[in-house]
Order: sequence, then C-alpha cells, then structure tokens
Amino acid sequence: MITGKYPNLRLRRSRKYNWSRKLVEENNLSSNDLVYPIFLIEGKNKKQVIKSMPGIYKYSVDQLGVIVNKIIKYKIPMVALFPSTPNNKKDKFGKEALNENNLVCRAIRFIKKRFRNNIGIMTDVALDPYTTHGHDGLLKNNYVKNDETVNILIKQALIQAQMGCDVIAPSDMMDGRIGKIRKYLDKNKYQDVQILSYAVKYASNFYEPFRDAVGSKKSLKSDKKNYQMNYANSNESLREVALDIKEGADMVMVKPGLPYLDIIQKVNEKFKIPVLAYQVSGEYSLIKNGINNRLIDEEAILESLMCFKRAGASAIVSYFALDIAKKIKS
Ligand code: PBG
Repeated sequence: MITGKYPNLRLRRSRKYNWSRKLVEENNLSSNDLVYPIFLIEGKNKKQVIKSMPGIYKYSVDQLGVIVNKIIKYKIPMVALFPSTPNNKKDKFGKEALNENNLVCRAIRFIKKRFRNNIGIMTDVALDPYTTHGHDGLLKNNYVKNDETVNILIKQALIQAQMGCDVIAPSDMMDGRIGKIRKYLDKNKYQDVQILSYAVKYASNFYEPFRDAVGSKKSLKSDKKNYQMNYANSNESLREVALDIKEGADMVMVKPGLPYLDIIQKVNEKFKIPVLAYQVSGEYSLIKNGINNRLIDEEAILESLMCFKRAGASAIVSYFALDIAKKIKS
C-alpha cells in the first residue's frame, strides 16, 4: 500500500548516501546462498581450461583439495560435481554411470575423506555424461524411454549415496523418478540423504557451454524437447513441483536462472519449499564475455545473483560463486 505523496514523499531521499541505501536494502546475498559447480576429468595433476567458459576449469580428482579448500574458506556450503567422461567410457546405455569407480564416485570419496561434513556434496542423476548419444536416458527411435531410464537412475542415485553424497539431484526430467529414487534410497537405509529435484528444467539454449565442457555437445544430434520443459510454459512448472514434493523432494531447482525469475517467484509463493536457482553455463558465459569485452561492468555479476534472492530463491548454483564469495568477504 502506498501512503503519502509528492512533494512530502520523496523516495530519492533514502537513495542519497550509501549508508542509507544499505539501511533500507530489502535483500542480501551471502556466501551461504551459493553452490559451486566443479567439472571433473580423468588423469593426474590436471587443471584444464574450458574454452566456452572463460575462468572455469576441469580438475582431475587429485587436484580437488586446492579448490575445495578455497570453497570452504569462502564459506560456500555445497559443491555440485559434473564429470567430463572420456569417449571410450561412453556407450548407448550410459553404463559408466553405474561404475563405483567413475569420476564422480572417486571425487565424492576424495572430498568426503579430506573434508568430511565441512562441505556438502551434490551430484547429478542423469545419463547424459555417459551416453554416446548425449541424452539423459535410454534412447529408442529417437525417444528417451521413461520407465526404463528411471530403473537405471535409481541405481545411479544409490551408488552416489553409498559413496557419501549428501544431496542427490536428478536433472533428467523423467516422470516419477523422485518417488522411485526416494523409495530405493530408503529401502537401502539412506533415508537421510537429501533429494534436490530439478523439478523445473526447461529445454534451453543456455546449456551449450556446459555440454561443451562435459563433452556431450558433439554427440547430441537432436534436442531434449521430449523430456525437458517447453520455455513457453508456466503453469506446467507448478504441476512438476507439486508432483515432486508429493514424491519426496526436499528442495526443488528451477533451471535456467535469470530468464525464469517469474517461475522461481511462483514456486516460492505457492509451495514454501526451498527453491534453488541454477544460473547455467550460457548465462555465465554471456555475462563473463560481456565483462571481458568491456561491454558491461563487473558488478553485473552481483546484480544477477541478487535478482535471484529478490525473486525468492534460497540458494543459487553459479559458476560465479567463488568470485562473488571472495568479493563479499573483502
Ligand atoms: C544434464 C545437465 C545439463 C546441465 C546440468 N545437468 C545440461 C543438459 O540438460 O543438457 C546444464 C548446466 C549448465 O548449463 O550450466 N543432465
């Protein structure tokens, strides 16, 4: 409700000085609100550039100590692990997903052994890093089979939990997978492992630098529109979230981020469940290249992240997490 009117009321009065602007600031970003994604590669002593994502690297498992130390130092609560699987370990079924010694499994064990519960680990449940066709599930006549895929995903989730993963994050968009994964984890006594459902994941053009980073870009011949959501839709996102909450999700993700603030706000208002936003690779690279080419100022990073908080996100998965956490601290 607006009370008062000009000239008695002048909203610019509180904007005059920095102290005053801070005093009436409605939202705040802290390093507690961030999740940092880490890309993994095979080998030893490796830190590899990702061309499409300037400033982001892929790490071999033995190099994770340095980066995770930094993440803890800057008080970021959780990392998200993504493997860049070598082509010779991919097949059309994504079998490598169920290998207890795959990159993600080794990385979970490495981090948990050194850092115990001083950092949370979240891992993706989906088959795309492991399939030769680059899709998140089993492919038949160019269609990703739902129930057959879910039967593999529950096993992938269990293995990750057994390795010590704290938060299982299915990003595959198969119907019914949250309930099936919850049931399977519980049956095997992992009832304390959390599920962060990528409940609302759009078939987006903003994922391309990520697909380049994990090596699925070239193999992916078609789009993911028969399982990821149509970006024209809004109500459908609420149905997705409602189902996943019933099936046992502890938190839900909206992805991509900035173009979907309306969805974050709606989900937050309707369901009162923690909503995470994923500021995806394409968003990162556009902003980063804009800054590198002096088209926009660096403060655009803070602005973009604050917007998620304003929309109602509990936390943000962002490739800027470490940069911004350093900034917040200083
Ligand atoms: C795949 C997955 C994707 C991302 C995270 N998990 C890409 C896709 O669905 O093709 C994208 C993340 C990003 O772009 O930063 N399960």
